[in-house]
Amino acid sequence: MIAKIKEAVAYIQSQYQTKPIAGIVLGSGLGSFTREMNVEKEIKYSAIPHFPVSSVEGHSGKLIFGELGGKKVVCMSGRFHYYEGYSAQDVVFPIRVMKFLGIQTLFISNAAGGMNLNFKVGELMVINDHVSLFAVNPLLGKNYDELGPRFPDMSEPYSKELIKKAKVIAAAKNIDLKEGVYVGVTGPTFETRAEYKLLHIVGGDAVGMSTVQEVIAAVHMGVTVFAMSVITDLGIREEENKITHEEVLQAAKEAEPKLTAIFKELIAQL
Ligand code: HPA
Repeated sequence: MIAKIKEAVAYIQSQYQTKPIAGIVLGSGLGSFTREMNVEKEIKYSAIPHFPVSSVEGHSGKLIFGELGGKKVVCMSGRFHYYEGYSAQDVVFPIRVMKFLGIQTLFISNAAGGMNLNFKVGELMVINDHVSLFAVNPLLGKNYDELGPRFPDMSEPYSKELIKKAKVIAAAKNIDLKEGVYVGVTGPTFETRAEYKLLHIVGGDAVGMSTVQEVIAAVHMGVTVFAMSVITDLGIREEENKITHEEVLQAAKEAEPKLTAIFKELIAQL
């Protein structure tokens, strides 16, 4: 596994030599973020040795290198979800590669269903903790000591310092930033009404199908994490409501400028 990471890194470094200090993973409907970047190099996932192969046709995915907020960053345009059939190790492979490329901080976004009754569609929630339900832990199996310890501490997976800074940035920009616990599930079904209620009772403010495995792999390697959810639908809601993927994408798109503004400013302050 370490050899595979190193081969992927060697290929990438043969194409682009600058070391990024931060990595960015974008969630559903949040891809136009990269317009804010000063793009220096794009590398298709399909060209990188050992990178997972995208299951969706015409949805190749790429690493985008460049500058954002005056800092060198690498952005994953397209991520791998467990529900697509990838192993947990595949899902986190790009995170490990980005760490070996030099990132110290990882910024993650996702679309999520709101369960906190104070949340509205289109709002942003900074993730202050997570609950992993049913998603396979990417650290199962042999531990690679070069990556991190056998039993990683998870008492602060999301940097308190970055959360504090994000709140200051949001206040200055008049963005109503919510905060809460993200529940990671496998999907691909949205939750039943009973499941949304259950996840709320176990302490979740929002629920989604990504992020948790990536965060575990990052924390394992000592990478600092900051993550935000766009609340794209409300799980606990009126009886006749149905949730569609289209509605999720639309809400994410509308909230994207706010998310971009916070990420950009946080990166500028790194
Ligand atoms: N549940 C799970 N994942 C999601 C949701 C949801 O309601 N909305 C966006 N991703």
